[in-house]
Amino acid sequence: MNPIQGKRILLGVTGSIAAYKTPHLVRLLKKNGAEVRVALTRAGADFVSPLTLSTLSEHPVAVEFVEGVAGSLWNNHVEWGGWADLILVAPASANTLAQAAQGACSSFLSAVVLSAKCPVVWAPAMDLDMYRYPAVQNNLTCLAAFGHVVIPAATGSLASGLEGPGRMPEPEELVQHVAHFFAQKGPARGKKVLITLGPTHESWDSVRYLGNRSSGKMGRALAEAWAYRGAEVIALVGPGAEEPSFPSIRTIRIQTAEDLFQAVRAHFPQVDAAFFSAAVADYRPARLFEGKHKKNGESVSLDLVENPDSLAWAGANKKPHQRVVGFALEEVGALERGKEKMERKGCDALFFNELGHKNAGMGAAENGGFWLDGTGATPVEQRPKEALAQWMVERALFDWKWNQQD
Ligand code: CTP
Repeated sequence: MNPIQGKRILLGVTGSIAAYKTPHLVRLLKKNGAEVRVALTRAGADFVSPLTLSTLSEHPVAVEFVEGVAGSLWNNHVEWGGWADLILVAPASANTLAQAAQGACSSFLSAVVLSAKCPVVWAPAMDLDMYRYPAVQNNLTCLAAFGHVVIPAATGSLASGLEGPGRMPEPEELVQHVAHFFAQKGPARGKKVLITLGPTHESWDSVRYLGNRSSGKMGRALAEAWAYRGAEVIALVGPGAEEPSFPSIRTIRIQTAEDLFQAVRAHFPQVDAAFFSAAVADYRPARLFEGKHKKNGESVSLDLVENPDSLAWAGANKKPHQRVVGFALEEVGALERGKEKMERKGCDALFFNELGHKNAGMGAAENGGFWLDGTGATPVEQRPKEALAQWMVERALFDWKWNQQD
């Protein structure tokens, strides 16, 4: 589950051209399961309409303390400040930053920030010289010292035509910052997890390789599920597989089984657990044809040699606190073969599935099978790989007693 799910996020929008991106930001926050309310400064309302933001957030937008016909509606800044799990001010202008740093509140939004009981995250956005101005930098340092979170401005082309720091990070990135903020409080905080995912490609000439249909979806879902619960993740990603994306995921690209093996040897000693979901080629060509091999009417034979087994190496070299999980795809006698593989490769658990299920397994969006460990085999019904990854992470957290309480 995305860590934003069910959270109440108050978005503060101030007078900066980047405000035109906030309708998209509201949509993304809502798509990730947040409840969103928007407080807009008067200058913010020059750049984006309250109607757009209230339609998308499905809540009235507050600009003034007193609104409505003949001042009939009072926006209660204390109630707004107390409602939120997190306040995100994006874009944050120099003026609103200064007010918060000095405890002033000439706008409704500033009064909400001063009344807040929750964390406040700032995404400053202004022209580069304004951003560099010493008082603005002092205010950012001051807000950080108050315990607020400051997301540094992105660098790029600015509305003034200048190039440099001052851009609001894209809405997708802001959503990830917010998600990461909540994730850091998750049950897997403080843990490090290694995930292998995708296929390996074993070259036999300069352009051709032996490979398989693995998409890396299962491993990607696992990497994100662990990161959403606060773990730091190292993802070793095979060629063509989509990279997992979250601030606490470090992605390292590998091509061959040998690359994967070297990366596992380098990173496994630092982690608490490793999930080996990569579909590693068991063999590689013994020799590489020089250049691009030309056909000449004769058949070609490839001598294959066995690749190193990363999972078996980790299983044999793990420390008592480390956990190792393997994956297996079996054709017949899955349970027996799964048990044998789990023991042979030194796994704490192994997820196995049988070939031939409709829309499931390698390359598909769904999978189902059995979670095998020292206590036996637990059937897990076919489901989207994201849901399966969540199931596995919850099971591992429970079994390994990593489910820390806040
Ligand atoms: N694996 C690995 N390195 C390899 C081969 C496999 O890390 N060189 C891992 C896979 O990521 C998976 C598990 O081992 O988690 C089982 O893979 P599988 O191909 O079923 O294992 P094999 O040893 O090849 O078993 P089989 O004899 O059934 O082919």
